[in-house]
Amino acid sequence: KSRGIADCFIVGEEFIGDDSVCLILGDNIFYGNHFGTILRQTVKEVEENNKSTIFGYSVSDPQRFGVVEFDNELNAISIEEKPVNPKSNFAVVGLYFYSNEVVKIAKNIKPSNRGELEITSVNEFFLNRNRLKVKLLRRGHAWLDTGTHDTLIDASIFLRMVEQRQGLKISCPEEIAYYMNYINKSELLEISKTYNNEYGEYLKRVIENDPRKD
Ligand code: G1P
Repeated sequence: KSRGIADCFIVGEEFIGDDSVCLILGDNIFYGNHFGTILRQTVKEVEENNKSTIFGYSVSDPQRFGVVEFDNELNAISIEEKPVNPKSNFAVVGLYFYSNEVVKIAKNIKPSNRGELEITSVNEFFLNRNRLKVKLLRRGHAWLDTGTHDTLIDASIFLRMVEQRQGLKISCPEEIAYYMNYINKSELLEISKTYNNEYGEYLKRVIENDPRKD
């Protein structure tokens, strides 16, 4: 059943176990240099400071999103879901880092007027206790929301353009696993043979073009 984004912490309770947790919305696309480093750093900070972290991104149409207002030290001071009069231009992107207690919080929030367990209600809980940090994704990052037909097509065009220009795929799981040393050269080669198409050819090229020494 579709009960709202925050329901994921209830549905996913067992999966989360005793860990801190990151949520990414399935229709959100992130693209930018050093993004992995930012994510790993954020996990560390959330675990060290016991503060949850959301990301703000400047947009021209903030009223379509959750909107966050923050102070000079990037502490969230207000957060509103689809406000008619947004207090800032910073949309809250669909990428959230929480400490483990988010599971308990999700169980206690009440559905909003649109009948959903809102992620914004979870964020308000942390904000009201001065435990919500904001990180900004700046100009060098693309954040695309693909929740409508139009925005899905926009994202497709963007990704195709970058991929074709560079000859590199964006977020190719096998390539990432290879560079993270989760799989080795011969394993990647085996996987590449299971695709009798352009994707398999790409995976072979990843091996050929690997700048690392053997
Ligand atoms: C959801 C969140 C909103 C956030 C947006 C990002 O909106 O409720 O705060 O800014 O995702 O994509 P929805 O897609 O449910 O309208």
